Amino acid sequence: MRCGYFDADLCRSCSELATPYDAQLAAKDAAVRDALADHPAYDRIGWEAPVASAQQAFRNKAKMVVSGSVDAPVLGIWDPRTGGTDLRGCPLYSEAVHGLLEVLAGFVTTAGLTPYDVGDRRGELKHVLVTESPDGEHLVRLVLRSTEALPRVRKHLPGLLAAAPSVRGVSVNLLPEHKAVLEGEEEVVLTEAETLPMRLGAVTLHLRPRSFFQTNTAVATALYEEAVAWTADLDPASVLDLYCGVGGFALHLAAPGRSVHGVEVSEDAVASARRSAAEAGLDATFAAGDATAGDLPAADLVVVNPPRRGIGADLAARIDASSARALLYSSCHAGSLARDLRHLPSWTPRRVRVLDMFPHTRHYEVLTLLLRD
Ligand SMILES: C[S@@+](CC[C@H](N)C(=O)[O-])C[C@H]1O[C@@H](n2cnc3c(N)ncnc32)[C@H](O)[C@@H]1O
Repeated sequence: MRCGYFDADLCRSCSELATPYDAQLAAKDAAVRDALADHPAYDRIGWEAPVASAQQAFRNKAKMVVSGSVDAPVLGIWDPRTGGTDLRGCPLYSEAVHGLLEVLAGFVTTAGLTPYDVGDRRGELKHVLVTESPDGEHLVRLVLRSTEALPRVRKHLPGLLAAAPSVRGVSVNLLPEHKAVLEGEEEVVLTEAETLPMRLGAVTLHLRPRSFFQTNTAVATALYEEAVAWTADLDPASVLDLYCGVGGFALHLAAPGRSVHGVEVSEDAVASARRSAAEAGLDATFAAGDATAGDLPAADLVVVNPPRRGIGADLAARIDASSARALLYSSCHAGSLARDLRHLPSWTPRRVRVLDMFPHTRHYEVLTLLLRD
């Protein structure tokens, strides 16, 4: 992929862009092999070829820091050298997102949204967040410092929706603190539609503004389909999906005669998962809570897909002592995966596959199937 921003040294987010794509994939595969090299059952692992991604236009989420001025907003990354670098044409996004970012830049001017100035802590609009569904619909979120600009956003919303008919939902997120985070706790939904339906193969997942969603829709679909394929022979009667988010694994693994239960800390994500299950008529239940706390519900198959820190020694020990027959561990960090596997001594990793969720970076997803010895 060629990128003018990278070539001009304006953006280095794709740190590996200068490396040919095949070599990027090989390096990720090697990194996972390295991380697991000390595992006592390393020789019994069946390694599968990495799942490649499209090399551009694969990101379903654009997270743009807003700087510049009302009349000339900059949507991109904050850079003290330039006072903000505009990345509206970033090749990781689809052409539809490029067009929508142009419309949103115009909206900043029309609605008089003063970009937040990180240096003097003044201004209102901090970030513009856009999510794209596989059907080409969009969810737009404006992260504001306060409610000061909210009436103007409401007033000009019909114009925005007319100019960008692909926009299904718009919300304002309030982030009053001066903090290096993307969003705050409070979300004000401005449109009738509250969710973005993400149609992934046979399952439609409903994405709410503050829920986690894998950023590469095609590779996420491959990940869930792989989970189904790897466990088909086991035919588990019950599945427990920990860190389930909006239910990607749980809902793909749901099947007639099989009970599926997901646990997730975000109430919004749980609401989405419940809605998706009900719409699809799937036998799946979801609970909001801490996956690392309380009793571990019994299940034949346990799926874990934690944040980078991994599942930790306690949860690993409880899974180790459980009656589960199979464990699928989907990880975005091979270091924490390797650490957690040390606390799962009665499990053998049998299949491992890197899925390239984040081309041109050193990040990846790795799926591991573990069975009892
Ligand atoms: C990597 S995401 C995986 C989400 C989901 N499995 C998917 O495929 O989209 C990790 C999820 O874990 C949730 N989470 C973080 N800490 C948690 C905890 N202690 N208990 C339950 N869920 C947690 C996050 O909100 C996030 O949705």
